[in-house]
Formats: sequence, structure tokens, C-alpha cells
Amino acid sequence: MKAIQKIREEHRAISAVLHGLKQLARDAQNAGVKPDFAVFRAMIHYIDEFPEQLHHPKEDRYLFPPLAARLPKLQRVIDELRAEHKDGAKLVRELERSLVFFEDRWPLGAAEFLATVDAYAEFHWKHMRKEEQEILPAAEHYFSPGDWDAVDRAFDANRDPIAGIKERDFQALFTRIVSLAPEPVGLGERWKKVS
Ligand SMILES: [Fe+2]
Ligand SMILES: [Fe+2]
Repeated sequence: MKAIQKIREEHRAISAVLHGLKQLARDAQNAGVKPDFAVFRAMIHYIDEFPEQLHHPKEDRYLFPPLAARLPKLQRVIDELRAEHKDGAKLVRELERSLVFFEDRWPLGAAEFLATVDAYAEFHWKHMRKEEQEILPAAEHYFSPGDWDAVDRAFDANRDPIAGIKERDFQALFTRIVSLAPEPVGLGERWKKVS
């Protein structure tokens, strides 16, 4: 059952970055304080690549197929989740576009950036909630020890050197976000007032 633990931990990490991004996008509405755009870039890079390269492929390849085989009635929700994995990548492009505009034209673009951040966070939370409420409990209930062995083996990043490297990169990026983000989101310096 290590794989389920891992999915939940990854959801917590994505959720922490989404919370931080929402908070900082709200703080950035004050035109008298210039945001540090590096933290926004790092956060969006993380929520773009971490789900895309590490998290969703594991769900798509190793969790959904055995679950659909055991419980055909879950096929509909699994199809929705797969489609959301693809849609999420497109929504991140919107996020990147509104950040580029905001950074170029600051303080213009603040409200649009916040709206895009809120919409993306809502989308991704809904997606993760669906997985946590409909998929993970079903797997816990219906998978046999043999199913778990297969899923856990597939999930074990240490067996896949490329995934192992990526996982370390994302941990390093998460640490960078925490060191760049000002309190209360992280440990970085407060944004400076413009004189
Ligand atoms: Fe997912
Ligand atoms: Fe997920």
C-alpha cells in the first residue's frame, strides 16, 4: 500500500504549492509592493511539471488500469480523471501567459493573474478530491495483496533511475519555493514597498 501513501503525499505537496500561490497572488494585488516574480515562476514551473512528469503518469499507467479491471463501474470516473490530466496541462499555459503579462506590465494584470490562479487551484483541488474520495478508497478496499505488490513495485521510483532523478529535482524545487516565498507562505524576504 506504499503507492497510495505516495499519491496522498504528492497531493499534499501540490496542494501546499497551490495554497501558497493563491496567497501570494492575493498579496500581489497591492500596487504599492512589487512582487518577487521568481517565486511565481518557480511555483508555476512546479505545478506544471510535477503532476505532468511524475504524478499523473503514475496514476494513468499503474493505478487506473488495475482498478478499472477490478471495478468496471469506475471506468467513467477514470476516463474523466484521464481527460483532466490532459486539460490541466492546457490550463497551466493560461497561468503562464497571465504571469508573463503581469511581470511585463506590472502593476497591470494583477487581477487577471489572481483570477487565473484561483481558477486553476479550484480545478486541481476538485481533481485531487475526486481521486481521494472515489479512487483511493476503492483501491484500498478492493485490491488484493498481489495487486498491491504490482502497483507498489511500479511506483517505487528508486527502481527507475530517471524517475528517481526527477523526484529529487522536484524536492529541490519545492525547497527553493519555500526559500523564495515571503512569510507566511515561506521563509523568504518580504516584498519591498515601492517608494
Ligand atoms: Fe490525477
Ligand atoms: Fe493525483
